[in-house]
Amino acid sequence: MLTIKNTNVTLDGNDNKVEILKNINLTLEKKKIYVITGPNGGGKSTLAKAIMGIITVNDGQLFLDNIEITNQSITERARSGIGYAFQAPARFKGLTVRKMLKLAAAGNKIDICQLLYDVGLCAQDYLDREIDATFSGGELKRIEIASVLARNLKVAVFDEPEAGIDLWSFQRLTGTFEKIHEKQDTTIVIISHQERILRLADEIILLKDGEISEITTHEKFLDKISHLDSDCDCRSDCIKGGTTNAECNR
Ligand SMILES: Nc1ncnc2c1ncn2[C@@H]1O[C@H](COP(=O)(O)OP(=O)(O)O)[C@@H](O)[C@H]1O
Ligand SMILES: [Mg+2]
Repeated sequence: MLTIKNTNVTLDGNDNKVEILKNINLTLEKKKIYVITGPNGGGKSTLAKAIMGIITVNDGQLFLDNIEITNQSITERARSGIGYAFQAPARFKGLTVRKMLKLAAAGNKIDICQLLYDVGLCAQDYLDREIDATFSGGELKRIEIASVLARNLKVAVFDEPEAGIDLWSFQRLTGTFEKIHEKQDTTIVIISHQERILRLADEIILLKDGEISEITTHEKFLDKISHLDSDCDCRSDCIKGGTTNAECNR
């Protein structure tokens, strides 16, 4: 179980300090899927990085199974059982996919071929390929997700796993999340905007302007967005439905 208490994150902006996360309070239980969603720039990736220890929080406390981890480094948190698949993963130069996944598994018994299949990659095409600039963004993303799945984690955070991934691999991936949910005790946190992923959630956490604005079920959340007024909510002099440049430049 991961507990986040009264947590704030302030980062250095261009001219001044910017409050990115404001008074976040969350209890994320084991064996549950939490999907964090909300507008771009709302602070989702920052929250994921604060959980992993990539960003240090200014105030508040984080606990993993009631042990405080607020001051633990990324490595210590990784050892404690927290893993994070980045929104835009880095390349692991010079390692083959097989080696990289074995390193990630760190002695855990894993079936590498199954892992690659689970993220929609053909093992025979990838196992002995060196990870380099010839990999597409979607391939890298899936290898990164596989490396998180290779670990037996207490908390696994996936930042927009759908980004750059084709429809077929995406279906495989959602099935994989369901499988982990069934078989493991891992707390799964997925940052996503995809309806198929939202549907996997035990709870949806809506993060807006750095604050949790709602925690709800996917049924309620999806029902609400299906009734959203599709008009823009720009400033009052916005020309709604303007069709010509002349109207827009008035
Ligand atoms: N290192 C940083 N320094 C200053 N501002 C940042 C930094 N990283 C992110 N931000 C800002 O924090 C806000 C939240 O970013 P992010 O957590 O990436 O949002 P999301 O993932 O919800 O789209 C954005 O306005 C972003 O520009
Ligand atoms: Mg993000």
